[in-house]
Order: sequence, then C-alpha cells, then structure tokens
Amino acid sequence: MNSNIKKIAVLTSGGDAPGMNAAVRAVVRASIFYKLDVYGIYKGYDGLIKGDLEQLQVRSVSNILSRGGTFLLSARSSEFRTKEGREKAYKNFKANELDALVVIGGDGSFTGADIFSHEYDVPVIGIPGTIDNDLAGTDFTIGYDTACNTATEAIDKIRDTASSHERLFFVEVMGRDAGFIAVNCAIGGGAVAMLVPEHNWSLEDLIKRLRKGAANQKASNVVIVAEGCKLGSSYDIAAKVKEQLDYFDIRVSVLGHLQRGGSPTTSDRVLASRMGVAAVEGLLNGQSNVMVGVINNKIAYTPISEAVKTVKRLDDDEFRIAKILSI
Ligand code: F6P
Repeated sequence: MNSNIKKIAVLTSGGDAPGMNAAVRAVVRASIFYKLDVYGIYKGYDGLIKGDLEQLQVRSVSNILSRGGTFLLSARSSEFRTKEGREKAYKNFKANELDALVVIGGDGSFTGADIFSHEYDVPVIGIPGTIDNDLAGTDFTIGYDTACNTATEAIDKIRDTASSHERLFFVEVMGRDAGFIAVNCAIGGGAVAMLVPEHNWSLEDLIKRLRKGAANQKASNVVIVAEGCKLGSSYDIAAKVKEQLDYFDIRVSVLGHLQRGGSPTTSDRVLASRMGVAAVEGLLNGQSNVMVGVINNKIAYTPISEAVKTVKRLDDDEFRIAKILSI
C-alpha cells in the first residue's frame, strides 16, 4: 500500500444521484478504517475553489445510507473549467495538505478531474454517480437502478389512467444523450415503443407500430421517449403523431427531476458501498486518474479519460426483447 497518502478529500459533483450519500459514507469509513484523515468538500469543485471543506469522522456519515441527494451538496462548477479556477482549487488542496481526491459524479465531473490531475500531478479517483448510466468502465453507475425503479413506478401509475381512458401516453424520461433509462423502463413498464438517441427509429416506424397495436385492439399505449431522442421532445412527437393518427386521445408526461430523488435501492447502496471502499483501496495501492467500476460483478479500474470518451453501447438484446414483447 502507498504510504504517501495520509489525507484524502471527497466531493460530489454534477447532477446528484441516489446513492451518492452511500458512496461518501463508504469513502469516509474506509479511510478511517485504513487510518487516513478524510475531508468532505461542499458543493463540488466550487467548494474546493472556496476552501469549503471539513474533516469528517465515522459519525459524520451516520444515517445517510438510505437518503437520496448528497449531504455534501453538488454543483456543476463553471469556474473549475477555467485555469484560474483550478489554480485556486489546487492552492486550497495544498493549503489543507491533502494527498488525494475522490470525485463522485458523471462525465463532466470526470473531465474536470482528469485535467486537474494532469495539471497538478494530484492523485484522483472517480466514482461513477449518475442516473444516466452513460459511463464506460462499469456495468452500472450509482443512481441508475433507483432512477429506473422510480420511473417504472411512475409509468405503472400512468398505465392505470391510460387504460381507464384508452389513451396513448408519451412518457419522457431522463438520460441526457443516452437511452439506458428509457430501454430499461420500456421493458419494465411494458411500453409499446421506445425512442432513444442511439437508434434511428423514424416517425413512420412509430406510426406503423401504433397502427399495428390499434389493429390488435391494444387498449392503452405507453411510448417511452428518452430526453435525448433525435425526433424531438415528447411534446413534438405527440403533436406529429396526432396529425397522422387523430383517433388517438394523446397525453404527454415528462417525469423530470423526480427521477433523481428518493431513497436508493439496495443495489445502488451496495454498488456505492463497494465502489467507495475500492476507491480508497485503489488510492492506497497507487491507482491514480482512474474511475472505479464494477464489471461482471468485479471491481475494475479504468483510466478516467477512457471512461469518459468511450461511448457505452445499449444492450442490443434488451432492445430486441422490448420489441418482441410490445406487440
Ligand atoms: O446527468 C443527470 C441528469 O439528470 C440528466 O439525465 C439530465 O439531462 C440532466 O442531469 C438535468 O440537469 P439539471 O439538473 O441541471 O437540470
């Protein structure tokens, strides 16, 4: 183990994700287990720039395992994107005699971490915390499972009212440029179709699918639209469908930020706990500028730049299954 590391700091950055608290807890407790001092930085990189940090103890992270959000608070720091901002951050890093940084966040946060690590030769380790699941180097990101469960539960409720009124619903889910939440919820929620950025389904394909359902006496229809869908927003698509299939009574529901909140599922808590411990152990073993992941149920370390740049592919088989089951 690398004995140079005595004092580490942890921050949460970017869009929050259920399970971030569980990850912070794991980093704090693993650090203390290995006799390191551990500091919590508030409001992501902005906190490092302003010197808003404090030492955390075992009890500082009591009763946060089950809580959504992040008690360290989060931000998308525009100042950290500048050289001057990172310089201020490094000054505080040095002033507090920190030896390493653990960043819990998504691709934007990791891009910043990568630059910072190279500029100042600071050991940095990333923990993937984002509901989007759009990072390579891990099968799942922290928060994705919870967000999918939240969205599927909402879709189930929408299905009840859609059935009562024999309506067609377009349900828009988050995911930024990725369709992971959409595919998962489409299967879990029994959607008639899904529109995701990764596939080039046309409006005509959708119309064909809906016509087929109508001919098969399909009583209610739910179409899942990923927010990054290239055909437009759920409202745009609904309007275009109405122009061609005016017999449908159409409604739109945008699930929005409710997908980011709530108590993390057991899977997310376990994933966050494993990754938090692996981050500390990775640093002690000399890992730097890597992201912790879990691949095929095993801890894996991937260079941050690779995790950010590699496009994570949707599972083709899941897409195929969704199609088979939606007839
Ligand atoms: O990256 C997480 C995410 O929730 C995306 O799914 C979504 O596009 C974005 O963040 C929303 O960001 P904000 O909270 O800044 O509106």
